[in-house]
Amino acid sequence: MTKGTKKTGGTKTTARNSAVRAAITGVFGYVPPDVLTNAELAQMVDTSDQWIVERTGIKERHILKGKGLGTSHMGAEAVRGLLEKTSTAPGEVDLLICATTTPDFVFPSTANLVSDMAGIHGIGSFDVQATCSGFVYALTVASQFIETGKYRKIVLVGADKMSAVIDYTDRATCVLFGDGAGAVLIEPSKKYGIMDAVIHSDGSGAKHLHQKAGGSRMPPSAESVAKRLHYVHQEGAAVYKFAVARMADVAVELMERNRLTNGMVDWLVPHQANKRIIEATAERLKLPPERVMVTIHKYGNTTAATIPLCLWEYEEKLKTGDRLLLAAFGGGFTWAGIYLTWAYDPR
Ligand code: ACO
Repeated sequence: MTKGTKKTGGTKTTARNSAVRAAITGVFGYVPPDVLTNAELAQMVDTSDQWIVERTGIKERHILKGKGLGTSHMGAEAVRGLLEKTSTAPGEVDLLICATTTPDFVFPSTANLVSDMAGIHGIGSFDVQATCSGFVYALTVASQFIETGKYRKIVLVGADKMSAVIDYTDRATCVLFGDGAGAVLIEPSKKYGIMDAVIHSDGSGAKHLHQKAGGSRMPPSAESVAKRLHYVHQEGAAVYKFAVARMADVAVELMERNRLTNGMVDWLVPHQANKRIIEATAERLKLPPERVMVTIHKYGNTTAATIPLCLWEYEEKLKTGDRLLLAAFGGGFTWAGIYLTWAYDPR
C-alpha cells in the first residue's frame, strides 16, 4: 500500500513500504586535531569573531594539516573507528560508499582508497557526489541494497576536506567551512530504519555555487591557478535564499508523505551551513531548539560529513524508536531528506 504520493519535477515519487528496512546500527566521527578559530581568521582576512558568530553561528572549525593527507585520511579514521566500535570485521562488510565533494583524486574514487586503508578488500566501493546533500543521497542509495536483500552490512562514510578548495583570502567563504568525516554502519531491520527518502536537484543553480577550474570544462592551467579559480565560488545571498526554502520544503514533504505532525518528530538533523538557516527551518516546522541537532559552532560546514557528525555528537541522547528527520541542501543545487527511526539505545 502506498502511504503518500507527490508530483516532483516530473517524477511521481512515493513513500516506501518495505518489509526490510535499512537501519543505522552504529556511527563514528573523526575531526582532525588542528582547530582554526574566528580570531585566527580575523588575522587572515577582514572579518571579526562577532560578524562570524552573528551571521553564521560558527566559532571554530577543524582543519586537516599534514603533507599528503587528503579526504581519505579522515574517511579511513572514521571507518576504522566504526568497525572497532561495532565489532565488525573488515571481511564482514559487503559494500562501502563514500559521499564526498573533495575526493583525493579525480580518479580513483575516494571510497576505493578508504576501503583499502581500513583493511576492507575486494568488495564494491564507490563515491557519491551531491555536495552538502551527499550523505543523504548516499544513504538513500545504500538503503536500496539493504531493502532488496542484496547486502547485509554497508559502511557509508561522508568525508570532506573543504580546506583544500577554500580561498583563505576570500572572507565570504573561508569562515564557513571545516574538515571532517562521519561513518555509519547500515544493516537490515524488521522494525527500525529508513522509512522514507527524497532527493532533488536543479543544475541551473550551479552558477551560484561551484568550483570553476580543475574539472574537464576548465582543466588546471597556470592561468586558472593565477586567477584562483580552483576554489569555491559562492554567491552567498542567492544560496541562502535557496537553502532557507528548500531545506524546510524537503522536511515538510517528508512529514506530509508520512503523516507526521511536529509533535511526532523527536529530532531534526539539519545540514549545518548557517545557524540562521537551521533556525528558520526549525521555525517553519515548529520544532523547539531542544529537538534540533546543532554542531555548527564547533565544526562549521563540513559538507558530506556534517550529518553523520551530528549523529555522532548526539548519539548518547538518541533512543530506540526516536523519529529523526534528516534534511540537507547544497551546491548543484541539491536538496534531500530522510525520515528514519533510530535503531538502538545509548550503549
Ligand atoms: N566578515 C565580515 N563581513 C563579511 C564577511 C565576513 N566573513 N563575509 C561577507 N561579509 C560582508 C559582505 O562583503 C557584505 O558587505 P557589503 O554589504 O559591504 O558588500 C556584507 O557582509 C553582507 O554580505 P552578505 O553575503 O549579504 O552576508 P550574509 O548576511 O548573507 O551572510 C553568508 C553571508 C554567511 C555566506 C550567507 O549568505 C550564507 O550563509 N549563505 C548560504 C551558504 C550556504 O548555505 N552554502 C551552501 C552549502 S555549501 C556547499 O554545498 C559546498
